[in-house]
Amino acid sequence: MAQDLIIAPSVLASDFSRLGDEVEAVVEAGADWIHLDVMDGHFVPNITFGAPVIKAIRNRTDKIFDCHLMIEPVDLYLAEFKGAGCDILTVHAEATKHLDRSLQAVRDLGVKAGVALNPHTPVNVIEHVLDRLDLVCLMSVNPGFGGQKFIHEVVEKTARVKALIGGRPIDIEIDGGVDPATAPLVIGAGANVLVAGSAIFKGDDIEGYRTNIDAIRKAVT
Ligand code: DX5
Ligand code: ZN
Repeated sequence: MAQDLIIAPSVLASDFSRLGDEVEAVVEAGADWIHLDVMDGHFVPNITFGAPVIKAIRNRTDKIFDCHLMIEPVDLYLAEFKGAGCDILTVHAEATKHLDRSLQAVRDLGVKAGVALNPHTPVNVIEHVLDRLDLVCLMSVNPGFGGQKFIHEVVEKTARVKALIGGRPIDIEIDGGVDPATAPLVIGAGANVLVAGSAIFKGDDIEGYRTNIDAIRKAVT
């Protein structure tokens, strides 16, 4: 994938009663990808939505559906999420005993493979699976909830991941507490995909979302 700046609003912070409309609105406002936070109440202490809900909103946009799977086990459900229309499936390194196998399974489905690392997880867990990866998602909050405070440790971690991936075409995504103040720190360290929930959906209409997306873009360019 390209290394251009990508803004991926997380619909976790949107109005779920109007989810399809919210997706359309945030795309209209300038979103590059749609970030979908799937939580199971087991790997993380919260439950959101699964493949049927994603499938129901798939026809609202042709933007990339970037699916962040906070579920354990995960391998069992990969085909279902691909079937729902996800373009990227990101599994947590902490949620699979066999990361190499999980990533192979994602690639075998013909979609992009991502790995997410919790704030405490050392970067070296990806060292031997780099050639199976399209994206590394570094959590800058402990997963489970939107609206949490950015954990600054991720800035140095981003630089380490950037060095590890070298010239490979792997996106580095930052997820959690991203706003115009924190975005430049991680972009400066080598990230190129910014997930933001509360910082984007805090306006309640397309113009509000556009202002919020533009503020993040402006902060990093
Ligand atoms: C947290 C999720 C994030 C979350 C980000 O578990 O993975 O995608 O929605 O929300 P903000 O931007 O509000 O921190
Ligand atoms: Zn996420």
